Amino acid sequence: MTDDLPPAGTVPPLPKPDPDRVRELLLEWCGADPEDALAAAEAVGGLDDELLALGGRMHRSIADDMGGRLWLRWPKPPAGAPDAERFLGLYPVLEAVPLMLDFHRGIGVDEDQSRLVLQDIGEKLRLNRVIYGRGGLDVAFWFTAHVRGAIYQLGRLQFCMEGTTAMPRMGLHIRGEGGPLTPEAVRSSVAQALEFFPAKFPGLFPPERPMTFMCSSWLLDPQLRDWLPERSNILKFGELFELVGPASYANAGGHDDVRRFVFARTPGTPTEELPEENTLQRSMLAGLKAGVAFQTRLGGLKRERLGL
Ligand SMILES: CC(C)(COP(=O)(O)OP(=O)(O)OC[C@H]1O[C@@H](n2cnc3c(N)ncnc32)[C@H](O)[C@@H]1OP(=O)(O)O)[C@@H](O)C(=O)NCCC(=O)NCCS
Repeated sequence: MTDDLPPAGTVPPLPKPDPDRVRELLLEWCGADPEDALAAAEAVGGLDDELLALGGRMHRSIADDMGGRLWLRWPKPPAGAPDAERFLGLYPVLEAVPLMLDFHRGIGVDEDQSRLVLQDIGEKLRLNRVIYGRGGLDVAFWFTAHVRGAIYQLGRLQFCMEGTTAMPRMGLHIRGEGGPLTPEAVRSSVAQALEFFPAKFPGLFPPERPMTFMCSSWLLDPQLRDWLPERSNILKFGELFELVGPASYANAGGHDDVRRFVFARTPGTPTEELPEENTLQRSMLAGLKAGVAFQTRLGGLKRERLGL
């Protein structure tokens, strides 16, 4: 996953980050835990010329594509890499925060929204620590959407500008932090998005073009109906979507996503080592033990099911 980086040797390296600045940005803007902020600041000491060169390419890929859609493909740190490599992607993302703030200001997005967008970094640092038992940011590429101004959090949900310029669409994403995914919370978020995007990006979302919302997630797997209790918000969320057929979109990543998002464990964790601390985990574990291959599914939001 290095396709979106400029070729090696064509751009300057990332200047070595100032550890105090890293810590301050993480604590004051990104909602990071002190433990993660400290680990990220300390890992700066391990950045060698090779990592800084890669960091420079990562940073340039963001800076050259401000306002771009989706996220950029970046290399993922190998499991077991030294701390500096496990945090590497974080530094160009933090370096790009001022670019994001300028971009947001330019389209009239206020600072509260900018801060909310960045809170996801603190969350994913926390999640990394639970999954791997040590600090790092395995999904730094995900934040290329945040700092390029492609993703916004409106209420419970995040909305990322996806699709093409000719056929833009909203990708709907769900953070782990932020409370239950109630139908009311979903409705409120989508209602906010219907106002926000045409106001901030009138060229992409003119009033005459109906906005479409898509979601790709383990939450949409219809097999969940066999395992989760009827009262589950996850099932109610799934009912809001019409699936794009399994033949064209059914992916084996579902297993990995379930391990990550339900159990906060690495992809290869054996079933018998997964925690069973709440209803969701117990229900999903029963399915896994029965041999269910949970899937990531793609669905289109049926707005009328929300009355919108
Ligand atoms: C999506 C999400 C917010 C739904 O939470 P919810 O509204 O509480 O969902 P449900 O009503 O279906 O489930 C409620 C039960 O599951 C538990 N639960 C829900 N999500 C959980 C999670 N990610 N990890 C562990 N337990 C979870 C709750 O504690 C509750 O258990 P209890 O009845 O024993 O108290 C939640 O699953 C979550 O945070 N997921 C991680 C992020 C994610 O998966 N995003 C999509 C990525 S593609």
